[in-house]
Amino acid sequence: MSSLQNRAIELVKLNKSYGNFQVLRDFSFSIELGEFLSLLGPSGCGKTTIIRLIAGLENLQSGEILLDGVRIDTIPPYKRPVNTVFQNYALFPHMNIFENIAYGLRAKHLSSGMIKEKVFEALELVQLTGFEKRQPHQMSGGQKQRVSIARAIVNKPPVLLLDEPLTALDLKLRKEMRYELRNLQQKLGITFVYVTHDQEEALVMSDRVAVMNGGVIEQVGTPQEIFTHPKSRFAAEFIGDNNIFEGQIQDTQDGERLNITFESGLAPALGRGFKKGEIVNLYIRPDKIRWNLEPVPGFHLPGRVIDLVFSGALVSVIVEMVNGKEVRITKLAGRNLPAPGQKVFLSWNEDEALVMGSPNQQIYSLVNNFDLTKVEQT
Ligand SMILES: Nc1ncnc2c1ncn2[C@@H]1O[C@H](COP(=O)(O)OP(=O)(O)O)[C@@H](O)[C@H]1O
Ligand SMILES: [Mg+2]
Repeated sequence: MSSLQNRAIELVKLNKSYGNFQVLRDFSFSIELGEFLSLLGPSGCGKTTIIRLIAGLENLQSGEILLDGVRIDTIPPYKRPVNTVFQNYALFPHMNIFENIAYGLRAKHLSSGMIKEKVFEALELVQLTGFEKRQPHQMSGGQKQRVSIARAIVNKPPVLLLDEPLTALDLKLRKEMRYELRNLQQKLGITFVYVTHDQEEALVMSDRVAVMNGGVIEQVGTPQEIFTHPKSRFAAEFIGDNNIFEGQIQDTQDGERLNITFESGLAPALGRGFKKGEIVNLYIRPDKIRWNLEPVPGFHLPGRVIDLVFSGALVSVIVEMVNGKEVRITKLAGRNLPAPGQKVFLSWNEDEALVMGSPNQQIYSLVNNFDLTKVEQT
């Protein structure tokens, strides 16, 4: 059985430039049948270009795009079996909601009864039953975006492309729509290719996330894999929110137990393939750090609480380390919190810190000479 049979979309060695600027260079990637795949990356990394190439709105310089094993890059956009939802709703302002959704079906010469059935089904899927007679200007932003989604799914395309469809909505609505879109995809059972620069969005909605940087996919995996095992410094820094400690491997035991020294102290960690003396970065998420009033065996990370920042249900405790570095710890507000000025000792579960080689070995060679006595006096 060919693995191609499970592929909804196959992108093979795509090359695309705008003027002298090459956005994609031999870009290859596969999207599985029926999956919710997010392309996640900062602005300008080439996400929209990929969507537009699949949809046929941009020309390829070279490469192939296959859908279900059949080349589609050679056929005009309107014949490709994909639909696209864009950030701005782009409804026809002079047509009511029914006609906006029915537009694509009219061209297919379906009976009016059939068109009505399909439009009403699509309206129900996006929870807009009863809105068919409204004009676009009588709808809120969120409702308009639902209409454009209804319009895109009304003819049940095997693949739906969504380019930052929630970006124009306010935060509360954006969060609600995430779950709605995910439910919709599961109900329809079709492939979603979802573009976003919002990591939280990608992590909560997707089956797989592809983290992009500068026209290249740095890592592909389930949200869980991406979040807990980022494979590159970019992925670790882009995904979620980490405190980063620069340090040096002091010793290794059993090939995986490490002790790492920092300008601000010392911590144990787990990691394979590191050598004594190697310069590393340790990543630890703000919600994984504990503050303690007494030193914790194995750790030596003393500091002083300098600020508490409340936002909604969360509080960030800012701790200044002995070298002046600020560490952020987040907890649910309402529990016992330290007061500003309080001396604390930081710790975490060893397996929740991530250790990676530092890309910049020389800069941190200074760490060799840091003064532990300074740490102890604090
Ligand atoms: N029509 C265009 N003409 C020139 N440069 C473009 C054009 N469209 C996009 N680019 C450039 O290509 C790069 C990738 O753009 P895009 O695919 O829109 O990124 P993203 O969607 O990830 O923000 C950016 O540097 C952007 O400025
Ligand atoms: Mg874009």
